[in-house]
Amino acid sequence: MNVTKEQVEAGQAAYTPRMLSIYNFLILRVIVPYIWKCPIDNVIKLYNANISSNHLEIGVGSGYFLDNCKFPSDNPRLALMDLNPNSLKFTAEKVSRYKPEIYRGNILEPIETDMEKFDSIAINAVIHCLPGTMSTKLVVFDHINALLNPGGVVFGSTILNIGVKQNWLTKKFMKNFNNRRIFCNLEDDLSTLEEGLTERFSKSEVKVIGTVALFRAEV
Ligand SMILES: C[S@@+](CC[C@H](N)C(=O)[O-])C[C@H]1O[C@@H](n2cnc3c(N)ncnc32)[C@H](O)[C@@H]1O
Repeated sequence: MNVTKEQVEAGQAAYTPRMLSIYNFLILRVIVPYIWKCPIDNVIKLYNANISSNHLEIGVGSGYFLDNCKFPSDNPRLALMDLNPNSLKFTAEKVSRYKPEIYRGNILEPIETDMEKFDSIAINAVIHCLPGTMSTKLVVFDHINALLNPGGVVFGSTILNIGVKQNWLTKKFMKNFNNRRIFCNLEDDLSTLEEGLTERFSKSEVKVIGTVALFRAEV
């Protein structure tokens, strides 16, 4: 399935400065726990268990998890990557204490390779925004793999539409977010995600809470 530049742009267009200013409350405190049925403590735990002091964050949004998780050291190397300059600016300000490196790029394309590799990479709540099917979107893990040091870890979450339980309200939101092109996940299923991680990494696990698949995998 070929995706167009316009479809890729649509997946990041919602993150305006205004949206980012209400993101933590509206999305993380209301929609994620009550509509997608995954309280964000689960995501904080995932970050605390897997983040390293040499970390790349892909699809940074408001930077909430980076700002609220515990790095293993006070002076981590932190790099931020996003297609949307608003998200990069907003997050860079939130985590300025870590003096982050900033990269603007589309994760569906190979990442520039002259940067130093990382011990952990997070891609949290991004895959459901990307155009394509779950199997075509899995290319992001090839791009991530190329940037991980031996023993490195990738982790994050994504909202699925197939293979997860949904009530009528969840289905309504899922359809609405897809119609508005904030999400592109109507064909995203659990088994393709699990198989894609197993094929690419030595060890992987996926845990589903509500409609959210939380994953981690090791090189
Ligand atoms: C839903 S937000 C997730 C923010 C954050 N990771 C979190 O969990 O709260 C999705 C982010 O992914 C970015 N994004 C969307 N499509 C992208 C792409 N093709 N390449 C890189 N970033 C992308 C958006 O600009 C936005 O900042």
